Amino acid sequence: STFTKEQSQLVIESWQMVKKDSATNSLTFFTKIFEIAPGARALFSFLKDSDVPFDKNPKLKAHALNVFRLTGDSASMLGEKGAIDALHPKLKELGKKHVGYGVIAAHFDVVKSALLSTIESLLPEDWPAEKKVATYGAWAQAYDELAGVMINEMQVVR
Ligand code: HEM
Repeated sequence: STFTKEQSQLVIESWQMVKKDSATNSLTFFTKIFEIAPGARALFSFLKDSDVPFDKNPKLKAHALNVFRLTGDSASMLGEKGAIDALHPKLKELGKKHVGYGVIAAHFDVVKSALLSTIESLLPEDWPAEKKVATYGAWAQAYDELAGVMINEMQVVR
């Protein structure tokens, strides 16, 4: 499927909104992940082995931003023919690491839902509905692209 310059632009524009209040947005993202899949909490060593409250944990923010940032990178590269391939070695390596963390393919759907509803929660109210829909669509497509590479590699190493 094709990814247009307009889609890249929408992701870049909304990424600025993620970054503007990254602490709140990271927390929203993780709260949604654990609402959908409470068991996923046990995977994160920085939650199990820490006395720091959930909402104050700096590593939680780091993982949230990693997911947002890589999806954003994927989106900006998808707009240019062939450029996404440059990201593949890094994503395959990440896929391998996630097997080690105990992550399974189904978790990627959970993270996708959490990502999209976090994006939804921060888009300006006055955006026309079609612009909002196009924005989620672009994030969804960019996420599917990178998750696909990671999951594929997870199945290879298993
Ligand atoms: C760690 C990115 C999806 C769970 C990491 C790291 C990155 C990352 C960059 C740090 C790796 C390192 O140590 O070098 C991503 C991206 C994802 C994704 C881009 C999706 C596109 C997921 C999913 C889960 C997950 C679906 C499961 C719910 C974890 C866990 C760690 C981790 C448990 C280790 C955290 C720790 O205890 O230190 N991820 N991740 N990730 N990720 Fe993901």
